[in-house]
Amino acid sequence: MNTANDRTQVDVGLTASKAETVAEALNTYLANLQVLYTKLHNYHWNIEGDSFFTLHAQLEQMYNVVNAEIDEVAERILKIGFRPMARGVDYVKHSDIQEVPSKAYHGKDIAETLAGDYRTLCVKLRHLISAAEKAGDDGTADDATAYLKDKEQMVWMLTAYKS
Ligand SMILES: [Fe+2]
Repeated sequence: MNTANDRTQVDVGLTASKAETVAEALNTYLANLQVLYTKLHNYHWNIEGDSFFTLHAQLEQMYNVVNAEIDEVAERILKIGFRPMARGVDYVKHSDIQEVPSKAYHGKDIAETLAGDYRTLCVKLRHLISAAEKAGDDGTADDATAYLKDKEQMVWMLTAYKS
């Protein structure tokens, strides 16, 4: 995914070839976050039914968390010497999380889909942590571990909601 052209002048003392593997995993995670960010807005806007007031507000909290993480992840990629993906077309291409159409959604369907999407993020983060540990990139491993704990919490809550 990254090429030599994607490199920057930043050198924090990581082995470049290993840092590139970490940057690729970070970029894949970034792509998934960007698609999820759009999808959470879609659900926030289009939710209908009994759970509207609860989930409309909850979804806003969720996309605000994702928004902050997007910026941190992109800037982490720059700190280890590479460039973040920055085009919507690339995010969609590299994301396992899928966009959904603009239409009416109900709470349990949203919770079921999002439980799967947050599970996808957990899998991506475990891969990222493993790549970071192999590269000696403790900073990325530390950030990703915090993200993982948050995403596991979301899977638990969304699974409880839909049950
Ligand atoms: Fe809103």
